[in-house]
Amino acid sequence: MSTNELWSHVKPGPPDAILALSDMYAKDTSENKVNLGIGAYRDEHGKPWILPAVQMAKEQLVHDPQANHEYQPISGFPPFTAAACRLLFGEDAASIKEGRLVVNQTISGTGANHVGASFLQHFYSFPTEDKKIYVTDPSWPNHYAIFKAVGLTPTSYPYYDASSRSLAFDKMMSALNDMPDGSVVLLHACAHNPTGVDPTEAQWREMADVFAKKHLFAFFDSAYQGFASGDPAKDAFAVRLFESRGDIGMLVCQSFAKNAGLYGERIGALHVVTGSKEQAEAVGSQLNLIVRSEMSTEPVYGARIVAKILTEPEMRAEWDRNIQTMSQRIIQMRHALFDLLTQRFKTPGTWNHIVDQTGMFSYLGIDEAMCHRLVTEGHIYLVKTGRISMAGLNPGNVEYVASWIDKVVRERANL
Ligand code: LMR
Repeated sequence: MSTNELWSHVKPGPPDAILALSDMYAKDTSENKVNLGIGAYRDEHGKPWILPAVQMAKEQLVHDPQANHEYQPISGFPPFTAAACRLLFGEDAASIKEGRLVVNQTISGTGANHVGASFLQHFYSFPTEDKKIYVTDPSWPNHYAIFKAVGLTPTSYPYYDASSRSLAFDKMMSALNDMPDGSVVLLHACAHNPTGVDPTEAQWREMADVFAKKHLFAFFDSAYQGFASGDPAKDAFAVRLFESRGDIGMLVCQSFAKNAGLYGERIGALHVVTGSKEQAEAVGSQLNLIVRSEMSTEPVYGARIVAKILTEPEMRAEWDRNIQTMSQRIIQMRHALFDLLTQRFKTPGTWNHIVDQTGMFSYLGIDEAMCHRLVTEGHIYLVKTGRISMAGLNPGNVEYVASWIDKVVRERANL
């Protein structure tokens, strides 16, 4: 068989809804182009930002003879895993103190989602044969791809109310109550991607009661700790609440892509809360088998950086300031966009959601046709669901973006 015959049946797959925008943006020669597609922080000049805390860690690592290139244990670089779980659950978490928490370093949040879902696929007693995992409607599109790839059946549950542009709390609560006992439910720990809409602390408490009552398993994705409020401890509220109750089965996928600006280093962790030290050992050994067969051991550079910024006081203080810088700049851009739309352009519709939403994204509430015009005519790249990465806005482009939103909204409504 010739090479030509071997692959002639393979048809091109669809481009990735988010990453393809970056390619289109790179090829666009317009001077006005703006990338609001991918969730990656940009500084006030639209440039990638190496966090000063990360820079400090890197400079130390260059001269550190211990920072060699040896393989790490399958579960990851120990100083990293020890610090990462404390950032997430807090210093006093019972599962850490009692040795019931299993932590595995992963290839960022995506790897944590994958290894976590794969572990459940093998070992969790799903209530239905098709192994459903309930996913917020909407969610990060890759959740669906990751869960399907390991043999789970992702199914959506109500989360966002498009008409009020807020949390569909009542609908979500009845959906949780109607799920078969023991169902697995994906929760975004904070800064929901793509809507920027999170439950309040009181709502999280009500949700936790339902999880306990119905033995629902909480599959947390924590990709934005620090980005919602500027305070990593505050953004861990839901995770810490669920863990501290001791009556909810849970795992947490953690990423340092956004909050440490380590997108390309692929550094994250999977945390599984178990009932005892013995269980933790058994679960850990099974996670290690999954990791060993797929990537053998994890890359160490990002882990060394994060371990330093979490454990060395000077770097930790700098990192806390860096998170504030990022989250505050995003909040300023929310207000700048909101003010331009409501006061300068007097754009038809309500825009309060832009300032009410939290984290890296705003779900604008504009339709696919309007998004298409923004991309093709305005050279403003955004996902076709109307999600924009607020971090792509800066003082130099926010007025241009607002003017185009105003234009497509008015022309769509024939105003
Ligand atoms: C996003 O949602 O834009 C980010 O999480 C990047 C990605 O991998 O999709």
